[in-house]
Amino acid sequence: MSWGCGLCALLAGGALLVLLLLRWLRADGDLTVLWAEWRGKKPENELRGKVVWVTGASSGIGEELAYQLSKIGALLAISARREDELERVKKKCLQISNLSDKEILVLRLDLTDRSSHEAATNSVLKHFGKIDVLVNNGGRSQRSLFVDTNLDVFSAIMELNYLGTISLTKHVLNHMIERRRGKIVTVSSVMGIMGAPLASGYCASKHALQGFFNSLRTELTDYPEISIINICPGPVQSKIIQNVFTEKLDKSIENFKSGVVSLFFSPPLAAFFTLLTDSLAAGMLGLQFWIRFFSSSSLPWQLMPSSASQLCAQ
Ligand SMILES: NC(=O)c1ccc[n+]([C@@H]2O[C@H](COP(=O)([O-])OP(=O)(O)OC[C@H]3O[C@@H](n4cnc5c(N)ncnc54)[C@H](OP(=O)(O)O)[C@@H]3O)[C@@H](O)[C@H]2O)c1
Repeated sequence: MSWGCGLCALLAGGALLVLLLLRWLRADGDLTVLWAEWRGKKPENELRGKVVWVTGASSGIGEELAYQLSKIGALLAISARREDELERVKKKCLQISNLSDKEILVLRLDLTDRSSHEAATNSVLKHFGKIDVLVNNGGRSQRSLFVDTNLDVFSAIMELNYLGTISLTKHVLNHMIERRRGKIVTVSSVMGIMGAPLASGYCASKHALQGFFNSLRTELTDYPEISIINICPGPVQSKIIQNVFTEKLDKSIENFKSGVVSLFFSPPLAAFFTLLTDSLAAGMLGLQFWIRFFSSSSLPWQLMPSSASQLCAQ
């Protein structure tokens, strides 16, 4: 091969690498999700007619997910504590989709009321006859320094984000094991992988979920058609800041300035859903980072933890 041909091959290889890198940097998901999408595993092909139960569907990520899923024809069970908000979400789903009234079930659910989870699961099964996908999305974050925070706040965070989630999963998984198929999708967070100031309890609960579901996956090797999928988004605009736990159980967030910082860096909610629905459709194992925003907001916080205390209103 002449020097000229060699140089051309090198340049072509370099250009391909640059293109791949640009594609990855512009993507909402990691390379495994992009690869699955490229092979045709698109949400609209995989999820039409499937029964998807979304918790935390009365606002934010769960609400938007309900809209996206209804548009592609998934049958929905939507849950949270506020039934009026769920009815509002259902109404909009019916307006933007071809689903009929019966194809969207509003089911009130308090994740911390674990004794109600079996009956709730039975209600979804009675209505639809099956559950194809459970999206464990309901949860709350935290904005308070560990030294200032009462221990009962840590207990409440674990009760909701961790125990509530695995309790519901246990009931739904029994059904999936009977059918030998299903997907359990858990909206974890980048905070499930790294640490961050002002969120020690929240990070712990998301780390717990990561550890739990990564272990559960290894226990299900006899059921290759059951997927355990963890989603690890960076910041997403939602009601999460308004709803955070603070130093005390009965204290809300109004004096906290970092809400502005977080919203400034957060992308609009709708932009997040390529990652979520694609991962769900692809049934990918493991983690998906929302890489662009991970670097733009979470990383500086990780590198400058001392700024955290200054962001707390005195
Ligand atoms: N926004 C972000 O930046 C971000 C980043 C990474 C991960 N996440 C995760 O994404 C998930 C959704 O958060 P979001 O951003 O959409 O926040 P959000 O707008 O505050 O929504 C939280 C949802 O959880 C529900 N919820 C809260 N407590 C509950 C309980 N005891 N029982 C049942 N449902 C309960 C809320 O409904 P009710 O109040 O009606 O019960 C609401 O529908 C959370 O797990 C969060 O950790 C969010």
